[in-house]
Amino acid sequence: MAEEVLQGLGSEPKFISPKYFYDARGSALFEEITELDEYYLTRTEMGLFDTYLDDMAGSLGEGVCLIEYGSGNSRKIRKLLEAVSPEAYVPVDISNEHLQENARELHADFPALHVYPVCADFSLPVTVPPEVDELTRVGFFPGSSIGNFTPLEARRFLTGVRETVGSGGALLIGVDRKKVVSVLEDAYNDALGVTAAFNLNVLAHINSRLQADFELDGFRHLARYNAEEGCIQMFLESQRDQDVNVAGVTMHFAANERVHTENSYKYDRAEFVELAAGAGFTAEAEWTDEQEWFSIFLLRGN
Ligand SMILES: C[S@@+](CC[C@H](N)C(=O)[O-])C[C@H]1O[C@@H](n2cnc3c(N)ncnc32)[C@H](O)[C@@H]1O
Repeated sequence: MAEEVLQGLGSEPKFISPKYFYDARGSALFEEITELDEYYLTRTEMGLFDTYLDDMAGSLGEGVCLIEYGSGNSRKIRKLLEAVSPEAYVPVDISNEHLQENARELHADFPALHVYPVCADFSLPVTVPPEVDELTRVGFFPGSSIGNFTPLEARRFLTGVRETVGSGGALLIGVDRKKVVSVLEDAYNDALGVTAAFNLNVLAHINSRLQADFELDGFRHLARYNAEEGCIQMFLESQRDQDVNVAGVTMHFAANERVHTENSYKYDRAEFVELAAGAGFTAEAEWTDEQEWFSIFLLRGN
């Protein structure tokens, strides 16, 4: 973490990887975000699961191992577990404490299910335990987390998933669609300031993990839609000229200098189908809401 954070803060422009949002407080704040009026993503995606769950389960068939990338609180998977009745579930998450706790809870609630938690960074190749070798592997990547990758990283990630699930394996993936800019920008600039607290928390996380001394009131949250890139970009903007110590290194922040913390790419249907095809997947089904704000795709490994 120290190496990666120092490299990002030493770059021009500065950046911090979004995976460092998720300490215990970051995970709790993200849960709060998903309940906000402005944050239509979770609500819309959950609505699609509620409406089309049987259809999705039917498409996945039997003898399945579900592999969830970034399992978090495993909330969405519970619905799938009930409908699909897979043989095994492999939650993959970078936040180990959260991962183990949720794996324990799931095992208690679904005693017949084999749960194999894997603590790993899913932006690198993920090794799945050999116990699931005979099963049809189905990746699960909800929440538009694919949007946190640039299109090039997304292609790399999907290619890795395609390798993991194999030919005939599948990926069920939630994708946020392009739409009116005000709806997109409001979702990342909520009136209660929860997204701002979530963004700033990355500095508190770095303070506690890397003996850093960021003053949180020295930065402010910014989220804008970049139409050229097709993504919401989040930044922390330095409110003054300041020096901060991070893991024994002094970093300088000029007044108004921005630290890029997250991208959330939005996709048209055709753009996403093409991205998936480039990674060796065919879009076998799509479920979307009336306004086509959010889509869940079932991708099949070629
Ligand atoms: C936004 S939550 C999503 C939780 C759940 N899948 C859902 O949609 O409700 C993102 C989760 O992904 C995990 N995560 C983020 N970046 C990761 C990475 N590079 N590797 C593994 N896990 C990651 C975080 O720890 C967090 O639990």
